[in-house]
Amino acid sequence: MDDVILPRRYLVGFDTAQLPELFTEVLVIGSGVAGLSAALSAAEVAGPLPTRASSASSGAHPAKILIVSKDKLGENNTMRAQGGIAVVLSPGDSFRCHIKDTLEAGQGLCDQKVVKEVIRNGPVRIKELIGLGANFDRAVNSVPHGTGHGPPPPEDGPLALYRSGTGLDLTKEGGHSRPRVIHGRGDSTGMVVEETLLEAVEGNTNIDTMDHCFAIDLLVVEGACRGALLWHKQKGRFIVWAGETILATGGCGQLYRETTNSVVATGDGTAMAYRAGATLQDMEFVQFHPTTLYIAGATRALITEAMRGEGAILRNKWGERFMPRYHPMAELAPRDVVSQSILHEMQLTEHTHVYLDVTHLPREFLGSRFPHICSTCKSFHIDISKELIPVRPSAHYMMGGIKVDARTRTGIPHLYACGETASTGMHGANRLGSNSLLEGLVYGHKAGREASLSSKRRHGKVRPYPLEVSMEAKRLRRLDLEDIRDSLKSLMWRCAGVERDEKHLKEATDTLAQWWEYVMDKEFHTPEGWELQNMILLAGLVIRATQDRKESRGAHYRKDYPQRDDRHWKRHITFRG
Ligand code: FAD
Ligand code: SIN
Repeated sequence: MDDVILPRRYLVGFDTAQLPELFTEVLVIGSGVAGLSAALSAAEVAGPLPTRASSASSGAHPAKILIVSKDKLGENNTMRAQGGIAVVLSPGDSFRCHIKDTLEAGQGLCDQKVVKEVIRNGPVRIKELIGLGANFDRAVNSVPHGTGHGPPPPEDGPLALYRSGTGLDLTKEGGHSRPRVIHGRGDSTGMVVEETLLEAVEGNTNIDTMDHCFAIDLLVVEGACRGALLWHKQKGRFIVWAGETILATGGCGQLYRETTNSVVATGDGTAMAYRAGATLQDMEFVQFHPTTLYIAGATRALITEAMRGEGAILRNKWGERFMPRYHPMAELAPRDVVSQSILHEMQLTEHTHVYLDVTHLPREFLGSRFPHICSTCKSFHIDISKELIPVRPSAHYMMGGIKVDARTRTGIPHLYACGETASTGMHGANRLGSNSLLEGLVYGHKAGREASLSSKRRHGKVRPYPLEVSMEAKRLRRLDLEDIRDSLKSLMWRCAGVERDEKHLKEATDTLAQWWEYVMDKEFHTPEGWELQNMILLAGLVIRATQDRKESRGAHYRKDYPQRDDRHWKRHITFRG
């Protein structure tokens, strides 16, 4: 297993003197909520440039910030987000209450300072997003919530602007004791966020973007990050030399056969940072979303938790409502509890899935509040106002990732991380629903600001470095990369999924070790190979951390160690690259 933890430093051989090069003050890798927020705040600190038209005619210097993305700019997990953004905006809510809920869900492993900072900065970032044109749904479009709002807690902070209420519709999700989740276009919140930020980026003369541009590795020279080695389908390999580099490459849900994640979520940034010497933490904490559509042949479309926030009921094969048997918050218990309860019911009833029931909610309400889910289900001939929705858990979110400090720094000078690829300490052992877009906005903004300030402090221009990496040419046997990728995803689902135990983890370790032997020694020339190498590395780290943590906590459930054990395990597991 040690081999799995000690990968080759670079995936490919190269000589910087032979490659085309670009220069930028701040390189942002990733164009989801975190990357776009980082670029916008970096641009704000960098100060204004001439308009695009005047800079083109005068031949003025190019933008100072460059965003690269391996697919289309809008292909990512952000775009898929449904439920919304958790933020304290109503008089019936308070920062204290949101902080308490977040810490409770995180089961002893959240960093309290980070939680407080993210939650307290939420309203400012949302106000900014609304200022950029984001249209969140207003209460008038919704029906009153059936869930008890409870007595208002003492107020300790929503922005004065919002004190009297914003008029935005607020819903509940699992583990939230107050309705505080704002949403857009019903169940297409991510689209609203991504489109708004992309439009702002496109109109910003300080920011350039390059899509379909795959980051292979970070360049670390003289102890600091100097940019990255990239690949473009038409242009081939090239170097971006950067004063500061921000990783915002998202999660790694693609490690699992059943996942809600976009195809881009292969954990490249996390793997790249580890190879470059950064520290990863909490890799055992993979969150499984309780309710994804389970229809053979269909992709695992998410059925948002907000549906349960609006009153949806979980039923087993026999039609019984089962969640009240497992937790006092029933369907709105934290995600780990709901996922594990569903699995238990599936075993009890010997069935492949359970059902979500919304047939008691008005048809018109379902159509306006959940238009995306209605149409997805309709395409499989399910009318959700009359029929039950077949659901089961899927891999959804990586709580672990690149360890960063309170200033988003990774430990490698001039390298920052934000969004799902980072482990800030916000989520601990289990993320509260809708806290991820919030963290992406707040910490993305922070990363951009930190990077841009550091760039301003640097004297002199960004410069190139001589770096030659030679690769011992291994004969490239014919490998069916897709087959190995599919097998990896099945292995992870079977052995490191919702339930884990030593026997299955050992099986995963042994199988991965075999694949490692004949995949990791190769030099590939396209993203399929690099992604597979990144996935094998991360799978190894997830399994190692899962094996090490001999207790159950949050999203990490060990059948052979079912109890939480604070005496030995109220701590993080870290790996240094
Ligand atoms: P992403 O949005 O995933 O962006 C990653 C970017 O990195 C992409 O642009 C990708 O192209 C780029 N990239 C990756 N590797 C490379 C590489 N090698 N080279 C170049 N570029 C690269 N959270 C909430 O708070 N509320 C919700 O309602 C919600 N709903 C969700 C629904 C679904 C179906 C899913 C999957 C997640 C949901 N989440 C939700 C979680 C949340 O959407 C994500 O955690 C968040 O959007 C991650 O943002 P990000 O910017 O870190 O990464
Ligand atoms: C959902 O809408 O259920 C997903 C919310 C999240 O992952 O935060």
